[in-house]
Amino acid sequence: MSTDISLTPQAVRQGLCTHTLGQTVRCLQTTVSTNEDVKEAARSGAPDGMVVTAEHQTGGKGRLGRSWDSPQNGGLYFTILLRGAHLPQAVTMVPLLSGFAVCTALRKSFSADARIKWPNDVVIGSRKVCGILCEGGTDASGNSWAISGIGVNVNNPAFPPELQKRATSLLLETGQQYTRCAVLQRILEKMEPLLESGSLPESYAPLCVSLGRQVSYFRGKQKYTGTACSITPAGELLVRLPDGQTETVNSGEVTVQGIYGE
Ligand code: BTN
Repeated sequence: MSTDISLTPQAVRQGLCTHTLGQTVRCLQTTVSTNEDVKEAARSGAPDGMVVTAEHQTGGKGRLGRSWDSPQNGGLYFTILLRGAHLPQAVTMVPLLSGFAVCTALRKSFSADARIKWPNDVVIGSRKVCGILCEGGTDASGNSWAISGIGVNVNNPAFPPELQKRATSLLLETGQQYTRCAVLQRILEKMEPLLESGSLPESYAPLCVSLGRQVSYFRGKQKYTGTACSITPAGELLVRLPDGQTETVNSGEVTVQGIYGE
């Protein structure tokens, strides 16, 4: 049984070492999707760094049109609004920087051997501990914004059978319960300077489990398999194919041999 308590704006702000990210925060009990809440707030001019959290989502959204299972049993669900100084010039950097921030926060503050599956899944061993869905748009005055929606499995004691090969939690990996508030705070603290710099640190590559492995992806109906060999400064994945050609992959699903039971 998780002994963690519900998130509150006071608890999130207390001891949060950021200037902007999370300084405006709404904590909901239940919502459809915190991404939808923050998009609506963004369109009506909500401030840079605003965070919405939920204890439970009824329609949690995942990448590539999938859903994100969001029960009230130890998961941390939140979305951050990014504008101005926290919106990198290359908006495609937001997912990679978000994944890197979560990975390094889990490593540094929560004793987890977390790594990144390109572009932004955070894994421990061969299972996913965090998923991230970034979206973007413009407000009524024509100003661009992006959102980073993050789901971290913190104190989940178990997963439904269909997710057991793919999902894990901090509790399952470290044997320790953590307060979701502390996990949120440490992630926001990592994200703020990374988003301000807007560029991918060199330490992304050593943390990336995709590199050096067999990966597969689709272009239209054609499936390609090769070896992931590096990440470009723009965050693209370079894949060496069996014919010696190197392909640049910048979006979509890339499966990695040995990860998620592939
Ligand atoms: C994925 O790996 O497919 C991305 C999952 C993203 C889930 C988070 S939970 C908080 C935010 N609200 C959503 O509806 N989705 C993101």
